[in-house]
Amino acid sequence: MAHSTPYTIFFAGAVSVVCGVLVASAAVALKPMQDANKLLDQRKQVISVAGLPCAESAADPGAINKCYEDNIRAVVVELKTGELQDGVDAAAFDTKRAMKDPATSEEAPANSAKILRLPHNAKLYQVVEGEQVKALILPIQGYGLWSVLYGFLALDADTDTIKGITFYEHGETPGLGGEVDNPKWKSLWPGREAYDDDWKPAIRVIKGQAGPADKAPYSVDGLSGATITSNGVTALVQFWLGENGFGPYLKKFREGRS
Ligand SMILES: Cc1cc2nc3c(=O)[nH]c(=O)nc-3n(C[C@H](O)[C@H](O)[C@H](O)COP(=O)(O)O)c2cc1C
Repeated sequence: MAHSTPYTIFFAGAVSVVCGVLVASAAVALKPMQDANKLLDQRKQVISVAGLPCAESAADPGAINKCYEDNIRAVVVELKTGELQDGVDAAAFDTKRAMKDPATSEEAPANSAKILRLPHNAKLYQVVEGEQVKALILPIQGYGLWSVLYGFLALDADTDTIKGITFYEHGETPGLGGEVDNPKWKSLWPGREAYDDDWKPAIRVIKGQAGPADKAPYSVDGLSGATITSNGVTALVQFWLGENGFGPYLKKFREGRS
């Protein structure tokens, strides 16, 4: 039996509304689960870039959370002064959100990492053993070729020796810039030095091969066919090590230790 045109339009509209409500409800209902998975993934990245032995065997959420809670302390610092912000709840603090909100961020000075806004405060992670800080994990971000790369750089407590690097979110081309995810390339970073003798950020991704860390402490092999992403990594790592990034905090940290 053929239906009238108004009936067909009404029916199609009703199906659209029902489907829309279903999709919207699913999105709302799944949001807490997505947030929890995101947090778990961040924790996994943090413990793994820190090179913690418990990270290697941590496969399930319980083990990841335990490894994180036993070893990691999140802190919030004021970027300009490098002062720890003890009054701020670091677990709940969201640097990405602070960066977007005009009330908690400002225009960034011109920079090669193409960072447009800087938060007043930013979160970082300390690897702790009792009260002793053994390493620092800096969240890093900046532009490659197609996308903003988000990751972590782990530094030894001397604030200079690199312990690891990882990128957990980017949109670079798989096989080219996407090789920032390649464990072989990431393994070239540990043992190299972040700063030169004058505490200027020195670590860089070069074009070609760098050789071993003792011969080339400030250089990492370039990603072949992906010089733009490689240069982006240099720019973003140097930005966050520099005076507009975590530089003031790192300076305070090493002076406090000496
Ligand atoms: C489809 C396509 C995807 C590309 N993706 C990347 C990329 O993710 N990162 C990058 O640096 N270069 C990428 N390139 C290459 C750049 O355009 C540029 O040629 C390259 O960065 C130069 O690096 P090279 O001097 O090592 O060859 C891509 C090129 C094409 C055609």
